[in-house]
Amino acid sequence: MPIILFGGEKGGTGKSTLATNIAVMRARAGHDVLLLDTDKQATSSKWASVREEEVIAPGLFAVQKFGKGIPALVQDLQSRYDDIIIDAGGRDNPELRYALAIAEKAYIPVLPSDFDAWTIRDMDRLIEMAQSFNPDLTAYIVISRASTHPQSREADGTREDILGEQLEQLTITDTVIFERVAYRKAARNGKAVVELSNKDRDEKAIFEIEALYKEVFVA
Ligand SMILES: Nc1ncnc2c1ncn2[C@@H]1O[C@H](COP(=O)(O)OP(=O)(O)OP(=O)(O)O)[C@@H](O)[C@H]1O
Ligand SMILES: [Mg+2]
Repeated sequence: MPIILFGGEKGGTGKSTLATNIAVMRARAGHDVLLLDTDKQATSSKWASVREEEVIAPGLFAVQKFGKGIPALVQDLQSRYDDIIIDAGGRDNPELRYALAIAEKAYIPVLPSDFDAWTIRDMDRLIEMAQSFNPDLTAYIVISRASTHPQSREADGTREDILGEQLEQLTITDTVIFERVAYRKAARNGKAVVELSNKDRDEKAIFEIEALYKEVFVA
């Protein structure tokens, strides 16, 4: 059963945005999805409450869990769901480590604007450590919130910087997620970008998030 983690040490990179979008897409594909929120800010849980209030189908069940109970909870719920998608944040809390102990795939969004080699190398070492007791784990960087400015090459530049680090464990997804209003609109309304209609619909956002979805679940 896929256990997919969106995590990382830096704030505001798009962890909750990607977790909620991918969870909706998986649920729309007919799977029973649990959204596990291990971040005390509770972004994904609040998003799920809005979704419930607005009665948006498919409904998504979200639970919050912190600390060392995370692996046991996942083990408990594993048989009841097809997929578990985890929104884990935070440098100074253990949630990311517990989540890495049980995830099959971890996605770490990185902003081109605050890429720094030290953090990436730290993450690479953290993944390596997690793999010593979770050998099934594979981990990827997702370039996130990249500039859509036509002249901007920041996503390409960041990819080159990351590749230049010659990391041991982390690889980069082919898909880049750009900074687009549609992600904020969807988030505010308890939706994913694929659920926005009419004037809110953004084909480019849908195209890129579908590409990421395929990398997560097909590749
Ligand atoms: N691709 C995007 N385009 C536009 N806005 C985005 C995008 N990704 C995230 N945002 C917005 O940026 C803010 C931070 O995003 P999000 O909450 O997903 O990040 P996070 O990594 O979960 O943050 P935190 O570390 O606080 O948990 C939110 O307001 C969100 O709507
Ligand atoms: Mg978050």
